[in-house]
Amino acid sequence: MVLGATGGIGAALVRELEQQSSGRVLGFARPQLQLEDEASIVACAAQAKDWLGSAPGLDLLLDATGALTIDGRGPEKRLDALDPTALARSFQVNAIGRALVLKHFLPLLPRNQRSLVGVLSARVGSIEDNHSGGWYGYRASKAAGNQLLQSAAIEMARTRPQAVLMALQPGTVATRLSAAFSAGHETLTPEESARRLLAVLDAAEPTGRAQFRDHTNTSIPW
Ligand SMILES: NC(=O)c1ccc[n+]([C@@H]2O[C@H](COP(=O)([O-])OP(=O)(O)OC[C@H]3O[C@@H](n4cnc5c(N)ncnc54)[C@H](OP(=O)(O)O)[C@@H]3O)[C@@H](O)[C@H]2O)c1
Repeated sequence: MVLGATGGIGAALVRELEQQSSGRVLGFARPQLQLEDEASIVACAAQAKDWLGSAPGLDLLLDATGALTIDGRGPEKRLDALDPTALARSFQVNAIGRALVLKHFLPLLPRNQRSLVGVLSARVGSIEDNHSGGWYGYRASKAAGNQLLQSAAIEMARTRPQAVLMALQPGTVATRLSAAFSAGHETLTPEESARRLLAVLDAAEPTGRAQFRDHTNTSIPW
């Protein structure tokens, strides 16, 4: 299951899964799945449940949604650029939207078998790793998304001890999201990033907690 299947990384994940796996792949994206609208997330989860039929549950859930530039506003460089509406929108998409996805999709994980959940986070959401400042709303909303994932991972471990829940840093990937900000950075194609992220998840073991790892399978401090 891939959420945000229209995105650069989301679409590449769908393509990779269709090539690599004999399993069935289902993707959701706007306008069907809108992070600001819980009813749309409920409807997608209900459709996913029907699609699963008698299968024990989702064995792979990827949430590749997220936004850096929202309503035409890009990341803030300085405190004096902070705008309450723009900050609230970042949280609505990157944190609250993610929380609602977890709320409605994690119940679809199987109880007694291995399952993998990868949510696209960002290294800049790491508080420990913040050495250059700026990008207030994006950084903070990604950090909040990570914290929500950690609580969900601890809760899920009680009923689904074989579930792996991971926040993923995909690299700097050549997509719409990064186009205006990637100059001077080594970039990955969406396909290469998707292949690496799937390999990282495939190699992961459940720990009863969320994990935060990058596309090279290196752990990132929260
Ligand atoms: N690209 C990078 O270098 C990079 C680096 C670090 C982390 N990430 C993270 O990786 C994830 C995927 O990014 P990407 O580079 O693939 O960006 P992208 O091409 O812009 O894709 C973002 C996806 O999120 C969806 N989305 C955005 N706002 C939404 C909303 N309000 N409701 C529902 N769906 C919404 C988009 O839908 P539409 O197609 O309808 O817009 C699209 O499917 C994001 O979480 C991003 O923060 C990316």
